[in-house]
Amino acid sequence: MGNFTTSSILLLFLFSSVVTSLPLSTNSRWIVDDRGRRVKLACVNWASHMEPVLAEGLSKQPMDTIAKRIVSMGFNCVRFTWPLYLITNDSLASLTVRQSFQQLGLLESIAGIQDNNPSIIDVSLIKAYQAVVSSLGENNVMVILDNHISKPGWCCSNLDDNGFFGDKYFDPDLWITGLTRMATLFNGVTNVVGMSLRNEPRGPKQNINDWYKYMPKGAEAVHSANPNVLVILSGLSFDRDLSFLKNQQLKLTFSGKLVFEAHWYGFSDGQTTWVKDNPNEVCGRVATYMMNTSGYLVDQGYPLFIGEFGIDQSGANVNGNRYISCFLGVAAELDLDWALWTLAGSYYVRDGVVGLNEYYGAMDYNWCGARNSSFIQRISALQSPFRGPGLSEAKPHKVIFHPLTGLCITRKSLVHPLQLGPCSDAYPWSYSPQKTLVVKGTRFCLQTDASGTSLKLCIFCTGSNSKWETISDSKMHLSAKLRDGKSICLDVASDNTIITNGCKCISKDNTCDPSSQWFKLVDSTRSSTRVERSLLQYLPGKGLVPNHLVG
Ligand SMILES: *[C@@H]1O[C@H](CO)[C@@H](O)[C@H](O)[C@H]1NC(C)=O
Ligand SMILES: *[C@@H]1O[C@H](CO)[C@@H](O)[C@H](O)[C@H]1NC(C)=O
Ligand SMILES: *[C@@H]1O[C@H](CO)[C@@H](O)[C@H](O)[C@H]1NC(C)=O
Repeated sequence: MGNFTTSSILLLFLFSSVVTSLPLSTNSRWIVDDRGRRVKLACVNWASHMEPVLAEGLSKQPMDTIAKRIVSMGFNCVRFTWPLYLITNDSLASLTVRQSFQQLGLLESIAGIQDNNPSIIDVSLIKAYQAVVSSLGENNVMVILDNHISKPGWCCSNLDDNGFFGDKYFDPDLWITGLTRMATLFNGVTNVVGMSLRNEPRGPKQNINDWYKYMPKGAEAVHSANPNVLVILSGLSFDRDLSFLKNQQLKLTFSGKLVFEAHWYGFSDGQTTWVKDNPNEVCGRVATYMMNTSGYLVDQGYPLFIGEFGIDQSGANVNGNRYISCFLGVAAELDLDWALWTLAGSYYVRDGVVGLNEYYGAMDYNWCGARNSSFIQRISALQSPFRGPGLSEAKPHKVIFHPLTGLCITRKSLVHPLQLGPCSDAYPWSYSPQKTLVVKGTRFCLQTDASGTSLKLCIFCTGSNSKWETISDSKMHLSAKLRDGKSICLDVASDNTIITNGCKCISKDNTCDPSSQWFKLVDSTRSSTRVERSLLQYLPGKGLVPNHLVG
């Protein structure tokens, strides 16, 4: 009990000391708060753009309960979708929630909303949308208003006529009117920190000229109606391509508010790419594509927001399973801002199916808890920033991140072997030009003696058995050579101990999955409580002595 109280107070203290002071703006590639401190957007998408035009799940749980579950899963933000017609079509905007569901014959949902969220059942759709934003605000959840589509419904296809300026349902002037109204409506609502101007531009009409013609108009309209929000712009081809910005800068009258958005799924590169080809080769290829089409923007001084990524969380889709380890490696390395697709455990109706189960959903079918807590655990390392302005608690170092588990290399105490643990406890490393991995602030380097055994920290790091190269197309295998010249790779035993093994399916083979051997060296300035407490010193004549016993 005593312990519990102390840690709760500590927790409270930690939370209050990191309270974000809004509004947000940009400082080079980082999103920062009012005091210049980095804010990492760790969002989840919450759909409110489907036929009923109501935030999903409100027939299952009270909105406050859902907001609290979002927070308890570690998200600090929601990318909240809306269809353009919600704000430009008066007869739609003024429909009550009850009328909207009645029109669609969704009577069971009406009963559910009446039970769980009685305060919104007879208010207009736009008021219901505002109520959800307020509820998120009361729970300190930031919101990005995402214009997802024009005509309410599931998005997106090349041929849905909602794809690009000039499409049947995508009139540029009406879009600017809608953005202006939405920006105005939420001016002064402090937890609305950004607006994503249009989701996944696409389709036969898409072209770069019109992108440069209309995107700045939308951006200026939003900024003049509400100068507090980040203005988030999406690329072409379903948010996959912002490469054209290399050749032509976007000209805006304002600064410090522009963020670019990209999407990246396992199927973005083909439904079966990850299964058909060797995962190292695919990861190398698609990560290069991503860097070339959107990732490069961070080097040019723009924040990049991955507005959608996600997988079937049942684990049934091998293509998705292989992709997500590669994605998490890249997202950790670049320390990107992001939004998981999606929150919904189920939809009121999707593709004509009432109560469709959403296997990509963070919530379970009844919106009671996490669908797959191991998936949430896996992305949790990416929910806090590794680095950025105002966060330098520790000197720059590397942490060794393991995307398959979402954990980092650490150890419980000096008598334990190196193992995987929470990234908040990660050992800080430096990676030298000689390719040694040295525990920061010590002389101890990572060394292997034999395949299949745990690793050692030694102080003589001259042999090939302490020289760690990043190999394979994915560059995610950390490989050294044993004394007999055999190459081995860092791997993880079933008890999470770090070991070495023969390197797995480095190329060609598409049947084997190398991801237990995938690690990323991630730049970090997070303070690493673990090692500072257990730092070792080498005293001549005495050998290794824990810091606190020295002197
Ligand atoms: C406006 O919304 C109503 C109600 O959903 C719909 O019947 C109508 O077709 C919409 N009008 C336009 C111009 O989209
Ligand atoms: C990078 O993108 C450009 C277009 O901006 C393209 O011409 C080039 O082939 C791409 N390079 C790679 C390695 O994908
Ligand atoms: C959660 O995901 C893991 C990894 O894909 C999978 O093995 C497990 O079966 C999933 N659990 C549930 C409850 O879907």
